[in-house]
Amino acid sequence: AKADPLNVMIAGAPASGKGTQCELIKAKYGLVHISAGDLLRAEIATGTDNGKQAKEFMEKGQLVPDEIVVNMVKGRLLQPDAQEKGWLLDGYPRSYSQAMALETLGIRPDIFILLDVPDELLVERVVGRRLDPETGKIYHLKYSPPENEEIASRLTQRFDDTEEKVKLRLQTHYQNIESLVSIYEDVIVKVNGNTTVEDVFGEIEKLLTSSLDKKTEMVAS
Ligand code: AP5
Repeated sequence: AKADPLNVMIAGAPASGKGTQCELIKAKYGLVHISAGDLLRAEIATGTDNGKQAKEFMEKGQLVPDEIVVNMVKGRLLQPDAQEKGWLLDGYPRSYSQAMALETLGIRPDIFILLDVPDELLVERVVGRRLDPETGKIYHLKYSPPENEEIASRLTQRFDDTEEKVKLRLQTHYQNIESLVSIYEDVIVKVNGNTTVEDVFGEIEKLLTSSLDKKTEMVAS
């Protein structure tokens, strides 16, 4: 029999590096990356009612209500590709009720990665972040600058990436993270996010490879 695919949750303060690490995890392990923030921004971009409502909360740095987020993420998670290849949930769950919505379906991660970065670094990461609308790649003007002028000229900034808004997002993060820590106590691992992108990924790689090995051993025994 074949081992079940790996299922991973990744959490951390705004700009702690979730999206950056997810790009690398996806490339190495072939997991389906499901980012709650990206799904919401896609709703905003297509102008749906959910998107319009969500934007009001995102502008205030608050959690978008469960009525919008829970089914949106659940729907994506239950699609065949995520079930077959394994999933990488980024920025979900963010509250007790969101976690419970998955628990009642028996959906649990093999590992819950919590990226740990000191607050004072987050503002600089947020204001320097840029996105490539063509490839979706995440850049930073100082830490991960664009490879050439052509890319540099098309980079965009997120509407909630201001110093004022990141402080609100950070407050929301601290209000909710403790409830998640208690639910995922048995699978949670804190990773130091205050090193280079490569070093953070090195730590994550060790964890995921060992999780995968454990799953394979279980099937073999
Ligand atoms: P979301 O889009 O998830 O934003 P977030 O949690 O604030 O996280 P970010 O995307 O800002 O940061 P990140 O950790 O991915 O960092 P990144 O890799 O880009 O959510 C946005 C909003 O949507 C929320 O505020 C909320 O309103 C709503 N929402 C989302 N999920 C929800 C949910 N479940 N329920 C309700 N509402 C929800 O890195 C940041 C920068 O740092 C980049 O420029 C990068 O290049 C740089 N960088 C990364 N790693 C390093 C490193 N090691 N060293 C130096 N620089 C680095």
